[in-house]
Amino acid sequence: MKICVVGAGIVGLSSALRIQEACPKADVNLISEKFSPNTTSDVSGGFWGPHLVDVEKQPAIRTWARETFDYMVTLARSSDAGQTGAQLISGYSMPKEDPWFKDIIFGYRDMTEEELRLFPEAKNGEFFTSVMLDVRSYLPWLLTRFRAIGGTIIKRKVNSWMELADEYDIVVNCCGVYARDLSNDESLQPVRGQLLRVHAPWIKHFVLCEHPQGSSYILPSAFDVVLGGTHEQNDWNENVDEEVRETIRSGCTKLVPSLQGIKSFSDWVGLRPFRPTVRLELETLKTPRKNMLIVHNYGHGGSGVTLHWGCAKEAARLVAKAIQAQITTTNL
Ligand SMILES: Cc1cc2nc3c(=O)[nH]c(=O)nc-3n(C[C@H](O)[C@H](O)[C@H](O)COP(=O)(O)OP(=O)(O)OC[C@H]3O[C@@H](n4cnc5c(N)ncnc54)[C@H](O)[C@@H]3O)c2cc1C
Ligand SMILES: *[C@@H]1O[C@H](CO)[C@@H](O)[C@H](O)[C@H]1NC(C)=O
Repeated sequence: MKICVVGAGIVGLSSALRIQEACPKADVNLISEKFSPNTTSDVSGGFWGPHLVDVEKQPAIRTWARETFDYMVTLARSSDAGQTGAQLISGYSMPKEDPWFKDIIFGYRDMTEEELRLFPEAKNGEFFTSVMLDVRSYLPWLLTRFRAIGGTIIKRKVNSWMELADEYDIVVNCCGVYARDLSNDESLQPVRGQLLRVHAPWIKHFVLCEHPQGSSYILPSAFDVVLGGTHEQNDWNENVDEEVRETIRSGCTKLVPSLQGIKSFSDWVGLRPFRPTVRLELETLKTPRKNMLIVHNYGHGGSGVTLHWGCAKEAARLVAKAIQAQITTTNL
C-alpha cells in the first residue's frame, strides 16, 4: 500500500505519524510545498483553547479536543517536554464565557475581586489551567519522529489530486486553507491572524481578553511570549501590517503593563482555515482509470493545535478503513 499525506502543518505531520504507526507495513509519503517554519501552524500561538469551531454543529469536536488535551498534558510530563515546549499554563480569560470545555481544562473558576483589580477594564473573568506547545519546536520534532519510523518526506506542490492517482492508493488531504482550490471547497475561508513573538521571560500567566477594540492575548510559551492578535475574515494577505503590530502591542501592554519597553520581537501572519465544520471524512473520487480514495482532514479554524492529535487518530482510522475497502475491491 502506498499512502500519501499532503501538507506539513500540524495536521499533516501528526496525521502522517499516526498513520505510519497504525499501518507499519504501508509506505507513507508526506508531500508538501512548505515545511516548518513556513506553514500556518508555525504562526499559531500553540495554546490549547477551542476557537472558531462549532461544537453544536459538530459534536465530535469535543472528543478530538479532549483527546488532544490529554495527549498534550502527557507530553508536558514526559522527557520530550523540553524539545516540544509542552507545558501546563495557567491564566486569566475575560470576560467570563462559561465555555463548553470547562470540564476538560483544569481548575476552572471565576476570577476573584482581587484578581479583577489587576485588569481595571474587565467586569468579570475566569481562571484556569490549560496546556501549550512551542509549535516551532514541536513541528520539527513530529517530522523527526515520522522519519524515524520509516516515513518519507517529499517537497513538492500538488496541483490536482489526479497527479497522485497513479502513484498512490490513498491520499490524505491536510492542506489547511489551501485545500480550497484543490478540493473546490468554497465553504473554506481564511481568517487572517497577525501576532508578535517577544522576549519577556518574566511573564508566567496567559491573559486572553475580548474588548470593544478586538481581542488581545498574551501567551508565554517555553521560549518566548506570544502577543496577539487579529481576526480578518476572508483576507488572504500574508504580509505583515506594521500598524497592526502597534495596535497589538498597545492592546497587550494596556492589559499587562510590564510589557512596556519590550525590545526584541518578530512578526508573524497566518491564515486560519475556517469552515462551518472540520472536514474529516473519506471521499471516493472517480477518475477515468480508477476510484481514488481521499481522506480529508482540514478546516480546523483557530483550533488546529487544540484538535490535531484527536483528528490525526480519526484520519488513521479512516485510512485503515480505506485500506480494507481497497483490498475488498481488488479481490472482487
Ligand atoms: C495568528 C494565529 C494564531 C493561532 N493560534 C492558535 C492557537 O493558539 N491554538 C490553536 O489551536 N490554533 C491556533 N491557530 C490556528 C492554527 O494555526 C491552524 O488551525 C492550524 O495551523 C492549521 O493547520 P494545518 O496543518 O491544517 O494547516 P497549515 O499549517 O496551513 O499546513 C498546510 C500544509 O499544506 C501544504 N500545502 C497546501 N497546499 C498544498 C499543495 N497544493 N501542494 C503541496 N502542499 C500543500 C502547505 O505547504 C502546508 O505545509 C492560530 C492561527 C493563527 C493564524
Ligand atoms: C522557508 O522560507 C524561506 C524564505 O522563502 C526559505 O529560504 C527557507 O528555505 C524555507 N524553509 C524551509 C524549511 O522550507
